[in-house]
Amino acid sequence: MHANLTIPKPEPTDGDTSWFVHDRFGLFIHWGLYALPARHEWVKSNERINNADYEKYFKHFDPDLYDPTIWADAAANAGMKYFVVTTKHHEGFCLWDSKYTDYKITNTPYGKDALTPMVNAFRERGLRTGFYHSIIDWHHPDYTLDPVHPQRDDAEYRKGDAERDMKRYAEYLHNQSRELLTQFGNVDILWYDFTPGPDGDTNRNLPGKNRESWQSEKLVKMVRELQPGIILDDRLDLPTGWDIKTPEQFQPRGWVHHEGKPVVWEACQTFSGSWGYHRDESSWKSLEMLLLMLIDTISKGGNLLLNVGPTGRGEFDERALSRLAGMGEWMKRHSRSIYGCTQAPTEFGSAPQDCRYTYNPDTNRLYVHVLSWPFGQLYLDGMAGKVEYAQLLNDASEIPQKDIEPWQMERGNEGGKDALALRLPIQKPNVTVPVIELFLK
Ligand code: GLC
Repeated sequence: MHANLTIPKPEPTDGDTSWFVHDRFGLFIHWGLYALPARHEWVKSNERINNADYEKYFKHFDPDLYDPTIWADAAANAGMKYFVVTTKHHEGFCLWDSKYTDYKITNTPYGKDALTPMVNAFRERGLRTGFYHSIIDWHHPDYTLDPVHPQRDDAEYRKGDAERDMKRYAEYLHNQSRELLTQFGNVDILWYDFTPGPDGDTNRNLPGKNRESWQSEKLVKMVRELQPGIILDDRLDLPTGWDIKTPEQFQPRGWVHHEGKPVVWEACQTFSGSWGYHRDESSWKSLEMLLLMLIDTISKGGNLLLNVGPTGRGEFDERALSRLAGMGEWMKRHSRSIYGCTQAPTEFGSAPQDCRYTYNPDTNRLYVHVLSWPFGQLYLDGMAGKVEYAQLLNDASEIPQKDIEPWQMERGNEGGKDALALRLPIQKPNVTVPVIELFLK
């Protein structure tokens, strides 16, 4: 990188985020019993379903078409470089053969561990491994009631709360974490979920559930011992000790900060709103919107973790598959503007209207993502004299560049004296989002 350029630089943390900020794009997988009701992974809480009534999903969980090599292919072809899977979501159901519970996949009609083959399949495709693990548990007998617990209104269940012991639950949480970090080889990311932060979602506040309930400090210590270098998210209610901030379901305005300082961050987003498989949801994002989210995220120095909720048969449904394929089609020709890229240095000014910049500090190339194709010329303020060569990324065709000419300034380009003008073809290139690659001097 040219020495004096200004790009936010997060302070180092305990985990190794160097690969993470290069790879940028990952797959989130939410898979559990909630795939069967197929109406949100919070269904147990939303509909206040008790354990007995929820049991039917456990009894009928049989993903006979589950083949993680197909999942891993879909992710790899989309250009994703890591995956994060729900080992256990809030419902408490475990995808691996944990010795600390019977509430696990090996005891369903499916009868096998789903996690080991998944980890192997993704690793074989070169993707890194991440485990999401819920610190909330709506099945564990020692987990106390709170305002989002499915049995919050159940008078009988409420009586039992006096006997429930969050210390025993914390032990369970720690024991299972140890299993996850010792039985699956190298784990790159551990994604605990959740305690809402001070700025968190007040609808889902969990009074009395905090770092003491989870014994978060002790937990982090163990995690760091078992998997040094692992990347840990920020949802254990700890002011420090984590590596990444995890905004979800919105695009941040800019690089994410914590207490005034830039941090490594990852936006997690869904295709359609729900994280678990939701049959009837109609709010699916278009391919174009998803690509804009990816580009926008990298242009602000973040990562994108995009979620799929596989079905109860064990497949990604076709709405997810077609979008992943579309993203892969784009990534095939444009991943150079994503991998290894980050927010452009402030010295380059702001991107032109309807555009996003990303910048690769190692190759010193600037990428202009043109979200809405303009007629004829694209003016890059402050970039006159800085560009050695420009080309469209999809086909490496030259984009002629010129500093703005005096006659143009008299006819409406007054403001652009130090702008660089790129001469664009009239026709928008036939890709969802065209990118211009600028080789800088
Ligand atoms: C929320 C939800 C949850 C989802 C997670 C992903 O915390 O509780 O269902 O797993 O966000 O970020």
